[in-house]
Amino acid sequence: MQNARIISRPVKGDGGIREKEAARPFVHVLADSSDKLSSVCSILEQQFTVAGERLDAEAKLSQVPFAIVIRAELRDVHAIAAIKKRAAKLAKATKRIFLVEHSSHMSISQAYALGATLVLPGTIDKIKLLAALAYPAEEASASSGHAPQPDNAVETAAIAIASMFTSVTSGQPIDINGAREAGRQIADRITQHGLSEWLTTVRRHHEGTYQHCLLVTGVAIDFGLSLGVGRPDLERLYTAAMFHDIGKARIPLAILDKPGRLDPDERAIIETHPVAGYDFLKDHDNISPEILDAVRHHHEFLDGSGYPDALCGGNIGDIVRILTISDIFAALIEHRHYKPTMPRADAYNILCGMSGKLEKALVTSFKQVALTR
Ligand SMILES: [Fe+2]
Ligand SMILES: [Fe+2]
Repeated sequence: MQNARIISRPVKGDGGIREKEAARPFVHVLADSSDKLSSVCSILEQQFTVAGERLDAEAKLSQVPFAIVIRAELRDVHAIAAIKKRAAKLAKATKRIFLVEHSSHMSISQAYALGATLVLPGTIDKIKLLAALAYPAEEASASSGHAPQPDNAVETAAIAIASMFTSVTSGQPIDINGAREAGRQIADRITQHGLSEWLTTVRRHHEGTYQHCLLVTGVAIDFGLSLGVGRPDLERLYTAAMFHDIGKARIPLAILDKPGRLDPDERAIIETHPVAGYDFLKDHDNISPEILDAVRHHHEFLDGSGYPDALCGGNIGDIVRILTISDIFAALIEHRHYKPTMPRADAYNILCGMSGKLEKALVTSFKQVALTR
C-alpha cells in the first residue's frame, strides 16, 4: 500500500527546464486514503512540486511547503488526531487548504479549528483549488503594497468563529470570552497596522461566512476608532460584530454559499439568521442586551424596510447603525472565487445610494474608513 509519494516529474530536455521545475512552489498533500492522495496529487502536479503522505503513515516529509492541502473525512476521530499530530508542520505553511468531503458547518468549523486557512467543501473542484493556490502569499502582499504580518490575530479569530459555529450546530454554550478576546486582538492589530492590512490578510486566507465575520469585525473596529468611540463601546462593537451572523450556523451551506441570486424561498431562509442568532445567544449569562440587540437587528433599516422586526429610526441603536454599515460594506468587498472583488470606492458608492436606510452622517463619516484607512 502506498503511504507516501514524492513527485519529482522527469523533465524533458535541458537543465533550464530542470531549474524551472525546482523553482515551482512546493505543496504538501495529506489524505486519509491512497485514492484521495492520488487524485489530489494528480491535480496539483501540473503546476507544483508535490509531496504526498497518508495521514495514517508516520509523518516523514520534512521540507516546509508554501501550502498544505488536506483531503480527509473530518467526522473521523483518527483523521482529526493525525492532523493534530502534524499541527507544528501545518503552522509553518502559509496556505492550509482543507478539501472537506462532507458539506456541513460541523466539518467546516472542524477544519478551521484544525488550522485551515481555506475550506473547500464537497467534490473536489480543480479550478477552485488551483485558484486558491494561484500565487504565493508574499507576492500577494507585495502587490497589495502591505508588508506581510504574522497571522496570529487572524488565526485566533478564525478559530473563535469556528468554535462558535460548532457550538451552535451542536447546541453547546458559546465561549463568549474567547470571542471577545479574539475581537480584542483584532482591535490591537488594526490599531497597529491599519484596516487595509487586515482586509488584505483576511481575504487572502479565508472564504465564505468566516471571511465575512472577520471582515465585518475589522471594518467595525476601524469605523469605531475613526469615530473616536471609547474602549467599552469599541468592545461592544467588536463583540457584536464577531457574533452578528452566528445564526447562519443554522442555514444550509447550499444556500449560504450559493453563487448568484437566491430565489424567494432561499431568501426567506437566509432572513431567519438574525433571530436564530439572538435566540441562541439570549440564554447565555455574560452577553449584554446591546449585543443581543445588534445580533437581532443588524439587517434593520431606518426607513422600516429591514428585517426581522421592521424597526424604524429611533428604535435602532448606535451600535446597530455602525454594525449595519460595516456589514454591508464588508459583504460587498469580500473575496469569492466566483466573482471579482469589488473595489472599496464602488462599495462606498453603494452605501451612499442607500439614502433613507442608513444614517447619512454615519455614512459620511465612514468615507475615510472605506477609502483611505
Ligand atoms: Fe447578517
Ligand atoms: Fe453579516
